[in-house]
Amino acid sequence: MDSPLPYRLSLDPRRRVAPVPRRLFGSFVEHLGRCVYTGLYEPGHPTADADGFRRDVLALVRELGVTTVRYPGGNFVSSYRWEDGVGPVDERPARLDLAWHSLETNEFGLDEFMRWVGKADVDPIMAVNLGTRGTAEAVDLLEYANHRAGSHLADQRRDNGAPDPYGIRLWCLGNEMDGPWQVGQRSATEYGRLASQTAKAMRRFDPDLELVACGSSHLGMPTFGAWERDVLTEAYDDVDLISLHAYYQPVDDDLASFLASAEDMDRYIDAVTAIADSVGAIRRSTKKIMIAFDEWNVWYQSAAPSNPPSGEDWPVAPRLLEDHYSVADAVVVGGLLISLLRHSDRVTAACQAQLVNVIAPIMTEPGGAAWRQTIFHPFARTARHAQGAVLDVLREGSTTSTDRFGEIDAVDAVSTWDDDTGEMTVFLVNRVTTAPAEVTVDVTGARLAGVIECVTIGGADLHAKNTADGPDHAEPRPNGTARGVDTGVRLTLPPASWTMLRVQATDVTP
Ligand code: AHR
Repeated sequence: MDSPLPYRLSLDPRRRVAPVPRRLFGSFVEHLGRCVYTGLYEPGHPTADADGFRRDVLALVRELGVTTVRYPGGNFVSSYRWEDGVGPVDERPARLDLAWHSLETNEFGLDEFMRWVGKADVDPIMAVNLGTRGTAEAVDLLEYANHRAGSHLADQRRDNGAPDPYGIRLWCLGNEMDGPWQVGQRSATEYGRLASQTAKAMRRFDPDLELVACGSSHLGMPTFGAWERDVLTEAYDDVDLISLHAYYQPVDDDLASFLASAEDMDRYIDAVTAIADSVGAIRRSTKKIMIAFDEWNVWYQSAAPSNPPSGEDWPVAPRLLEDHYSVADAVVVGGLLISLLRHSDRVTAACQAQLVNVIAPIMTEPGGAAWRQTIFHPFARTARHAQGAVLDVLREGSTTSTDRFGEIDAVDAVSTWDDDTGEMTVFLVNRVTTAPAEVTVDVTGARLAGVIECVTIGGADLHAKNTADGPDHAEPRPNGTARGVDTGVRLTLPPASWTMLRVQATDVTP
């Protein structure tokens, strides 16, 4: 191993980026593979409640600290008829799901999701179908979900057992509408007009809804940039947020670049922010479009479990996208959360995709156990301890070279500061694979009383994974190197690792 690399973080609780947006810790439930069926919902499972919801999964969702859940897709939503999923279960039609070549039984639909949301204590984000459907169906769904009573669809919801309106505030206007894989793919202008019309119609019902327009499906799309510009040119005044999606995996076994995936996320957010602001500037608008990073994760897209069935076979809830995550993947997920927090003045909602079984932190066996993947841990710790305000951290020190991003800082980091508890939390990643990092955290404008907790995942055993039989094999362990209080802390980060440092502060300068 190479000798330790020096690195310094300087922070001041008076230099703030934004309050931590609680919606940054969102997740995503799509009718895909086993996310819903045998994931959230499995009547007959030993832990199932009267609604058929797995209580073991609900407990893990609460432990994960998820705040919001996007539903029902994803690619699925672009040919979904929401009406199929409401009313008496035995009268609901089974339909072909064209996105994932599966059979959708519709046993679980909007009313089941909203009951589950209540039990999980999360807020819903609802996506409408702008692939095979349009404004009328989106407004119908809104009326069914959010109107109190006295109209056909609101009364239908009441008859279906939900007397109170759901009050869903955040709505996605379609999903990845630029993607050739999307049922109902559209051009930017076509989609921008449809999103604008649908948003206007939805706001006639409730002007205070928050509406998300689809950005490019990912940064590598050939139309990236022009798509955002053209969609916002049509819909700038009608929407509040634009969506970003990004999935990461190692390419050609290049671990160093993979560990630095947050560099890509940073650049993507900065690029979309600049494009949105340029459209706003041309319009002489004072309004700022925010970012919903409503799909992000590590996803081994080239692996076999990502391939949908084909031909005559239309299975119910097949095993799809069931990635099995390593310690290295957990380090990357921790790094992506750092990037999201760093941009919390513009990224006000984000969803790790997905919640259960499908590229997910939580796995289940039908009839069996529910367990935590490695990526569960950085998410759960960040969601719990990133409280208060995000600080503007000055980073300086050693650099490392990567094939994909060139020369980058050896250490990535962000910090939060909670005025209520006086707690400072620093999240760090050492992106260097061959050397530890010796980090000094300098604090001005406050005194530090002592280290509350310091935990690390990574370093050795980067390929380790958890399993149903060994669910706690790979998780963060105490990092005993954190020393010093008053105006600073020093700690050592093992190579290729994610760390969370919590420090108690006193005497914050006004
Ligand atoms: O999360 C899996 C899929 O990835 C979603 O259905 C789609 O929106 C994205 O391409």
